[in-house]
Amino acid sequence: MTAKRRFRSQDWFDARDHIDMMALYLERFMNYGLTPKELMSGKPIIGIAQSGSDLTPCNRIHVDLATRVKEGIRDAGGIPMEFPTHPIFENCRRPTAALDRNLAYLGLVEILHGYPIDAVVLTTGCDKTTPAAAMAASTVDIPAIVLSGGPMLDGWFEDELVGSGTVIWKSRRRLAAGQITEQEFLDAAAASAPSPGHCNSMGTASTMNAVAETLGLSLPGCSAIPAPYRERGQMAYETGRRAVEMAIEDLRPSKILTRESFLNAITAIAALGGSTNAQPHLTAMARHAGLELHAQDWTKYGHDIPLLLNMQPAGKYLGERFHRAGGVPAVLHELVEAGKLHADTMTVTGRTLRENVKGRASKDREMITTYDKPLRERAGFVVLSGNLFDFAILKASVITDDFRRRYLGEAGHDNVFEGRAIVFDGSDDYRARINDPALNIDERCVLVIRGAGPLGWPGSAEVVNMQPPDALLKRGITSLPTIGDGRQSGTSDSPSILNASPESAAGGGLAWLRTGDTIRIDLNQARCDMLVADEEIERRKKDGIPAVPESATPWQELYRSTVSQLDQGGVMEMALKYRQVAKKTPRH
Ligand code: FES
Ligand code: MG
Repeated sequence: MTAKRRFRSQDWFDARDHIDMMALYLERFMNYGLTPKELMSGKPIIGIAQSGSDLTPCNRIHVDLATRVKEGIRDAGGIPMEFPTHPIFENCRRPTAALDRNLAYLGLVEILHGYPIDAVVLTTGCDKTTPAAAMAASTVDIPAIVLSGGPMLDGWFEDELVGSGTVIWKSRRRLAAGQITEQEFLDAAAASAPSPGHCNSMGTASTMNAVAETLGLSLPGCSAIPAPYRERGQMAYETGRRAVEMAIEDLRPSKILTRESFLNAITAIAALGGSTNAQPHLTAMARHAGLELHAQDWTKYGHDIPLLLNMQPAGKYLGERFHRAGGVPAVLHELVEAGKLHADTMTVTGRTLRENVKGRASKDREMITTYDKPLRERAGFVVLSGNLFDFAILKASVITDDFRRRYLGEAGHDNVFEGRAIVFDGSDDYRARINDPALNIDERCVLVIRGAGPLGWPGSAEVVNMQPPDALLKRGITSLPTIGDGRQSGTSDSPSILNASPESAAGGGLAWLRTGDTIRIDLNQARCDMLVADEEIERRKKDGIPAVPESATPWQELYRSTVSQLDQGGVMEMALKYRQVAKKTPRH
């Protein structure tokens, strides 16, 4: 295929007015075998943003897949150039991988802006690798297509499906209750990771890759293909091919991402039983695309949507069955048929979402139900506010019937709960004191954690899904209501109130809460308050904001100086004014 238009890379490789510079640009690529003739041919240069590495095992499959991406790019008439992105590994990065989303974003913006790249294949997988890539693609605004690495194969342990993360939360409760040994805990965790790929439950990784597909940033069916399946390599090849066509068509993120496509994502997240981390990430992606997403959008477009996907943590199964049932297109198909999506949104295929999912109904109704006979009604996030915070979310799809009965369904108090606050300053404090008999924690308590937000941690940590003290676990009380200004793992089945903004470290209401105060949660009114008189709150403000750790690295300090609260996506606020920066090619 020959190019009809002049690509930005030609400002490097066909710069006759800067012959000395052109010579410099051309010569070094020869050292791995490219020829000046190739580079001067006017073919588009397609970047492959390689997110896989030994430090990012969830995305490591991309190291192999890149070969097939390159073959697709070559076959379609482009020149591939692979380069690394900043690693982000959710489980291992201390103090939290959340610090790295904005750092990887920054790095990718500089690469896509400053090098001769005409279009880019964004390789994604582990939680934050997807939003970081999409945010950068929007800021730069060159044609961009997402290639997910895909989930691991299903994990099995003692004849039971064990899902990533979810098995950890379940096993630690059983360990605390004395039902399993430490070795059995470790064995179950290992069994949940049987192959290359990212988390195989509907945690943040699967959610964000499904979101990318819903937004129209990847080929239909891409996100759910398990990493080791042969279709994954085929998808890599097709994605490479399509990237070249998109370069020629100049199909950029700004032509794909609209407010409607983001509202579609909110609806899809509810139907999928998706991760609570989707809230800050989707907000960040929208804001970097120059679009507004309001707190009420989560309620308006998500709350009434039923749960259609039977995948852990909200349901039973894992990624292989999701893919076999039809993957994301089958869920979107159901939502389009029910009239719940803006189906005319543009996608990387050059066709609309409606066209992409045509004829792709679920092939397995146990896994992906019909809209009329869902697994659960009203599965989306509930947005709460009150004197503890202006904004927090609760994931309705993981509230079990038992929890509902115990906390929200007492006679005359439907959906309203009052409990005694037990306040922890960060997770060390929680670990040190949760089993302290002096706290007298019973089933009428609410566990609260603060100092876990973007400023406090720093980075916002996945710590809100606190488990009850061992004594309660032994009595079969497996969860208490929890509240926090941090996040929780997308694989968690805990019905927490989280992402509270503003956080304690920013002077939010949680800073003035004290152990022993009464907290009232009213889901009917979408409110969460401490029943403490205003004068008393004012008096407590004199005590100051609870202390948080100092920054330990230069990036932590820079991060803290620019970051917004989780309701605003935790973005670098100063970055938002930079939009479509590739419009102007950088000077020689
Ligand atoms: Fe990387 Fe879950 S820890 S995908
Ligand atoms: Mg996570």
